[in-house]
Amino acid sequence: MQDFKYYAPTEVVFGPKSESQTGKMVKKYGGNKVLIHYGGSSAERSGLLQKICDSLDAEGIKYVKLGGVVPNPRVSLVRKGVELCRKENVDFILAVGGGSVIDSAKAMSLGVLYKGDVWDFYIRKTFEKACLPIACVLTIPAAGSEMSDGSVITNDENGLKKDYCINEFRCKFAIMNPERTYSLPAWQTSCGAVDMMMHTMERYFSKDDDMDITDNIAEALLRTVMNSVKIVLREPENYRHRAQLMWAGSVAHNDLTGCGTTGDWATHNLEHELSGMFDVSHGAGLAAIWGSWARYVMHENITRFARFAVNVMGVPCDFNDAEATALEGIRRTEQFFASIGMPTNIHDLIGKDITDAQIEEMADKCSNGNTSTVGGLKVLKRDDMIAIYKMAK
Ligand code: NZQ
Ligand code: ZN
Repeated sequence: MQDFKYYAPTEVVFGPKSESQTGKMVKKYGGNKVLIHYGGSSAERSGLLQKICDSLDAEGIKYVKLGGVVPNPRVSLVRKGVELCRKENVDFILAVGGGSVIDSAKAMSLGVLYKGDVWDFYIRKTFEKACLPIACVLTIPAAGSEMSDGSVITNDENGLKKDYCINEFRCKFAIMNPERTYSLPAWQTSCGAVDMMMHTMERYFSKDDDMDITDNIAEALLRTVMNSVKIVLREPENYRHRAQLMWAGSVAHNDLTGCGTTGDWATHNLEHELSGMFDVSHGAGLAAIWGSWARYVMHENITRFARFAVNVMGVPCDFNDAEATALEGIRRTEQFFASIGMPTNIHDLIGKDITDAQIEEMADKCSNGNTSTVGGLKVLKRDDMIAIYKMAK
């Protein structure tokens, strides 16, 4: 078991009507002038935005609004938001939405206090950490950004999708009302389930074997998500199972499922190139690539893949053949992804064949021109990335 630090400072307010507490929570964390940041139309359409404004009005807190965040949020809108925050003397940013909105809010919070261009952080040109306080009202369980230290932004000029991770990015509070997720389309519900599974699996598939509490939490979380997503796809207004998913999304990415492990994260890195190039949903991209990654690296820790197969995917253990057990676990995972409408290869993800040139370009970006690697269970170089993308074609 590896030494670890666990830091999850976000105050969670969970339950029906929890959004009515927004104003009080902003006040508690010292916000005087708030930027309410949101996405396309879902928060306006559902009346959530108005409820939040009412709650801020009730506490006498001033605010300005900036909508328009798209999935795979763009740096161009972040730059606009930075200007707006400066002009309006904003001292607190409230994200209303999912991972894209929260990540865009995080980027802005950093950009406001920085003299240069906010993209500098994402290309490691600067490592400053000062940012405005951020909080969120979550509307989609998926990315886990509500409790994570990360922000992932896409540069609309060159298609690069990059992350920046600092503890200062962790939300002061996260308001979560599972009823607000009833309106999610089936596709987004499934993408979210895959993403939270993958946040758990990226931490689970490591070289470390003795971390019983973490492993057992991870396996229980995976089984719960697989069960609950099937139910909500049939019954979108099932509170109990929407609630399981909402909390699972946060726990999957607040580091609890990674205490004592080194983690891998190659699937995420490979996927970020797919969503950077093709603007696909992050969860679907993960589903398309994971099986190929797993087959490519499983021999680095075959016991762990066999354990996953038995404890999560319900595969009977073949004591004489761990590899057969592991492979069946991977097959069943892909079968599960397909059963909730997710692609399990790149062709199904993007709706056409990917070219070898596109694969080379993604591998170049992912390896920063063959100067860096990804992955922990198996360290992947540019050639490994190409091999996995080709397997996933
Ligand atoms: O824009 P609106 O109209 O709100 O529609 C959104 C959007 O189209 C819709 N939606 C959200 N809540 C809804 C709803 N529709 C109906 N009812 C609701 N209650 O859902 C769509 C997707 O939203 P988005 O925020 O993009 O989804 P998600 O939470 O999956 O976030 C994905 C982004 O997060 C990044 C991904 O790379 C991607 O850019 N990630 C961020 C991480 C982090 N910060 O820690 C970690 C993750 O691994 C991930 O990389
Ligand atoms: Zn993810």
